[in-house]
Amino acid sequence: MDVQDIKNRFGIIGGSPLLNRAIDIARQVAPTDMSVLITGESGSGKEVFSHIIHQMSTRKHGAFIAVNCGAIPEGTIDSELFGHEKGSFTGAHEARKGYFEVANGGTIFLDEVAELPLGTQARLLRILESGEYLRVGSSKVQKTDVRIIAATNVDVYNRVKSGKFREDLYYRLNTVPLRIPALHERKEDIFLLFRKFSADFSDKYRSPGIHLEPDAIQMLSNYSWPGNVRQLKNIAEQICVLEKDRNVTAGALLNYIPNEGGSNLPMALNNGSNKEDFSERDILYKVLFDMKKDMMDLKKLVAEIIQSGGNTSHIMEENPHYINQLYQEVDQTVSNDSTFMIKKSPQNAPVDYNYTHDAEEVEESLSLIDKESDLIKKALKKHKGKRKFAAQELGISERTLYRKIKELNLN
Ligand SMILES: Nc1ncnc2c1ncn2[C@@H]1O[C@H](COP(=O)(O)OP(=O)(O)O)[C@@H](O)[C@H]1O
Ligand SMILES: [Mg+2]
Repeated sequence: MDVQDIKNRFGIIGGSPLLNRAIDIARQVAPTDMSVLITGESGSGKEVFSHIIHQMSTRKHGAFIAVNCGAIPEGTIDSELFGHEKGSFTGAHEARKGYFEVANGGTIFLDEVAELPLGTQARLLRILESGEYLRVGSSKVQKTDVRIIAATNVDVYNRVKSGKFREDLYYRLNTVPLRIPALHERKEDIFLLFRKFSADFSDKYRSPGIHLEPDAIQMLSNYSWPGNVRQLKNIAEQICVLEKDRNVTAGALLNYIPNEGGSNLPMALNNGSNKEDFSERDILYKVLFDMKKDMMDLKKLVAEIIQSGGNTSHIMEENPHYINQLYQEVDQTVSNDSTFMIKKSPQNAPVDYNYTHDAEEVEESLSLIDKESDLIKKALKKHKGKRKFAAQELGISERTLYRKIKELNLN
């Protein structure tokens, strides 16, 4: 089987050299009985690789047991792994087989291996060296034939240096190191993964397909992805379920990708040239200004409604079109934006407070409008008055641009 066959068989997406290399190492080490230490950030695919190695080994018909060493309390981990005799500790009413006995002839995947207590590490080392172990509460030596694949998202060698991990065990486990690259090291795979996941979720939820606009693809590719493929998969699912507009722009994506902090955002979009960097920043600011303006409109409306004692009929009469549009927009925002959901529920604030707040904000909005018309003028100038390209650059539709030009009297 070559690397591509393995990808097809195990549903591995991506074509970056680092990923291909990891698959190639897994392919070569699988048929041997060597221990493998898989390193990589959380969500990068370590468990997937442990399956690949087991399935492509001569043990594929044997058991595969995955143990999360970080999730088992220190007091019971030895008994879980190696079993115990009846009466070996309070509560041990029956003898129990450990995973190493059950997995005889198969593979054990020790996830978060750096979390193993030192005592357990000593027992594990003995198994690795001789296949021998003792059940808890027994002095009878047992034998087992288990292949060990371990995984960690921390630097185990640091644990060795601080005396928390046995050096001999470290070298024994690390016979073949296998490093799974983080998503930010294989940016070229991000869009491929998103496309696959969103297609799968669209199938699953019977919803229309998701199309990413170029600015959204760029934002996706430049995000840092601390949760790697798992996080990307979650976000693809959220977008599939929640997003009403199936043409997803960078602005819409901001609702799903956590903000990496104000100054990070424009930098995250940096693609080399300073000039382009600047225009992209403008687009992002524009998205934010638009959002803020919407907020302000909303606040004004709420203030008006409160002032009129909750009676909305006069507002409806004066401006039916605007209200309809607002309903649609609000509807969409509420279902898409989790922060909005949280803010929806607080108790009614005193009316007075809302008023002073509102007054401050209205003044600020004037400068936002200025800023907006500045950006539009700049974009039009850059594209020599060609509205189509200016709109693209601004990240809005041509129709919206026409409306804004009219509204802001830019003709
Ligand atoms: N290259 C890949 N292609 C497709 N799906 C992947 C890939 N790598 C990881 N996944 C998926 O991402 C999720 C997290 O992977 P997992 O192996 O559990 O990560 P880890 O063990 O490193 O935390 C799983 O749903 C897995 O199927
Ligand atoms: Mg995992």
